[in-house]
Amino acid sequence: MLELVAGDITEQRVDAIVNAANSSLLGGGGVDGAIHRKGGPEILAACRALRAAHLGKGLRPGRAVATTAGRLPATWVIHTVGPVWSATEDRSATLRECYVNSLAVAAELGARSVAFPLLSSGVYRWPKDDAVRQALAVLRDPPPGVDPVRLVLFDEPTLRLAEQVRAAGA
Ligand code: APR
Repeated sequence: MLELVAGDITEQRVDAIVNAANSSLLGGGGVDGAIHRKGGPEILAACRALRAAHLGKGLRPGRAVATTAGRLPATWVIHTVGPVWSATEDRSATLRECYVNSLAVAAELGARSVAFPLLSSGVYRWPKDDAVRQALAVLRDPPPGVDPVRLVLFDEPTLRLAEQVRAAGA
């Protein structure tokens, strides 16, 4: 089941929440800032350990990795790096990969309920209607065992937009 809700990703009571991270995995603004601020230093420590152990200089756009969720209600944070919007280059396959790979990580962890923010639609400037289209294209068909999937829109107008896009079947 795919749920569309308005709210704050850090407050979701689900097994895993997804972070709109950057390649450094060392935090930032938006969703990333809120997750690290409310989740506490354990998340950053786990990100540093992942960087040191596996990722070298950072996580490529489209990829996803998991850490503890620290003090957040979720058990895990799945960090993924969306593409920056480009008017000249179609990066939508990379944006969809973020959702695909995050769901795959959730399935590997044994997470059932997973909540996503609208990746790339803030600091990375992806137009919200198309960001919703890319998200729904993947999230309407999650891997077996991952259920429910929740797309968390930050405000009511964005929730209404997402509902319209879903109703239009796009
Ligand atoms: N809960 C849910 N949604 C949120 C929250 C929140 N607490 N805070 C912001 N949003 C919304 C934004 O309104 C936007 O629609 O999430 C969407 C994604 O916004 P960003 O967090 O800016 O993510 P993104 O566009 O992918 O940019 C990633 O931002 O801070 C950095 O480190 C991060 O460099 C990376 C970049």
